[in-house]
Amino acid sequence: MVSIESSREQWGSKIGFILAAAGGAIGLGNIWKFPYVMGQNGGAAFIAVYLLCVLIIGLPILIAEVLLGRTAQRNPVGTFKALTKNKMWRAVGGMGVVAGFVILSFYGVVAGWSFGYIIEAIKGSFFDYATPSAAGEHFNELTQNVYWITGLLGLFMGLTMMIVYFGINKGIERGSKIMMPVLFVLLLIMMFKGLSMEGAEKGLEFLFIPNWSKLTGLSVLEALGHAFFTLSLGMGAMMTYGSYMSKKDNVITASAQIVALDTLIALVAGVAILTAIFSTGQNPAEGPGLIFHTLPIVFTKMTGGYIFSIIFFILLSLAALTSSISLLEVVTSYFVDEKGMQRHKAVLLFGTVAFLCGVPSALSFNILSDTKIFGLNFFDMANFLASNIFLPLGGLFISIFVAYVWGFDKALIELKKGAEEIFEKRFWEIKFWKIVIKYFCPVLIFLVLLHSIGVLTMIINLFQ
Ligand code: TRP
Repeated sequence: MVSIESSREQWGSKIGFILAAAGGAIGLGNIWKFPYVMGQNGGAAFIAVYLLCVLIIGLPILIAEVLLGRTAQRNPVGTFKALTKNKMWRAVGGMGVVAGFVILSFYGVVAGWSFGYIIEAIKGSFFDYATPSAAGEHFNELTQNVYWITGLLGLFMGLTMMIVYFGINKGIERGSKIMMPVLFVLLLIMMFKGLSMEGAEKGLEFLFIPNWSKLTGLSVLEALGHAFFTLSLGMGAMMTYGSYMSKKDNVITASAQIVALDTLIALVAGVAILTAIFSTGQNPAEGPGLIFHTLPIVFTKMTGGYIFSIIFFILLSLAALTSSISLLEVVTSYFVDEKGMQRHKAVLLFGTVAFLCGVPSALSFNILSDTKIFGLNFFDMANFLASNIFLPLGGLFISIFVAYVWGFDKALIELKKGAEEIFEKRFWEIKFWKIVIKYFCPVLIFLVLLHSIGVLTMIINLFQ
């Protein structure tokens, strides 16, 4: 035990942790999912609700997760083991480890597409489309190719493994310090390009002038679900990153900075993508294919589209990579801390397992497209299970654990370390955090779960 404690790495610097954690949070969720979900839910009104969810639920849970990890200095299973004698809680950590594989399995597939699209962009394929539907057909053709889709998944998992292999400082921290600034710059370039296009104001209107009538009860729940996904909450990823944090660092400000960066990037990506979509007269409510079907058409129509298409898919791939390393790190830290495995071995073994878990998701677009579980193919099932069941359930348990099992007496002692100033001056904020974790989170997250399991949909249908 002692050897584990003394050999456990810590982040080299505060900014290193912020960039790594923000890198974990900022990913396909911000650039692929947020624009299309918001596009489907009417834009500005959805954004307003999403911002509220991030602030009222997301930030408090993020603080709780990072705090738990920093307190125990362990992976999610080890964290619950260290903080309570009740063995049942270890299962919550275990669920996080399993969720890591499940998320990686569909995340890696989309990230693989993104890699493949860098190559398509370089080849200039987007300029061969005669009609808008040709872009969709091209996408379908590529994803039907078993070698293309699994090969790219493998390439992506290989790169993810390479970074995690080198550990916290030399791998994740160093990688994030290089990739995150590049990502910010590329995204800013895309935003200015979008804003400079003729008709960009229609996109801005969609993003910033709310049309409340488009907002339904379900989109509110969707906003909360997305807040979990985009902040990487509910499966112990932030707990694991928090476990490499020093007790001298301030958990509250660090969490606030991560939330601010993640939200900013989602909004900038929203502006970049929706201004371009509106200027070229495309449909914002296209759904998950928005980036791979619709955006290529936009590139063919914009000046300098060739170079912007390359920039865009590099940016998307970098964002995906800094997130997938946070997922693989959860699994790795579990086997290193709890099972005494060497990091190198754990990464190679479980990275390969994650790749194999991803294969059925990749094949959902071709050979296995007719294999369905409860009406969903593997890819959709993994996506649904992770975002709608595992993450909210994890968040629910984390808030219950902090409020009712570990208890605020102990939690506040830990939270205060490194944040003494906030405790002196911001009494109300601390009180607010407690109230949210104790009452709001359990109730609201429970509603999200009900929705996920379809109960709410059924009830709504009954009463319509
Ligand atoms: N937050 C990332 C995104 O927005 C995805 C992600 C990485 C994630 N690690 C996670 C989601 C852990 C949930 C849990 O793309």
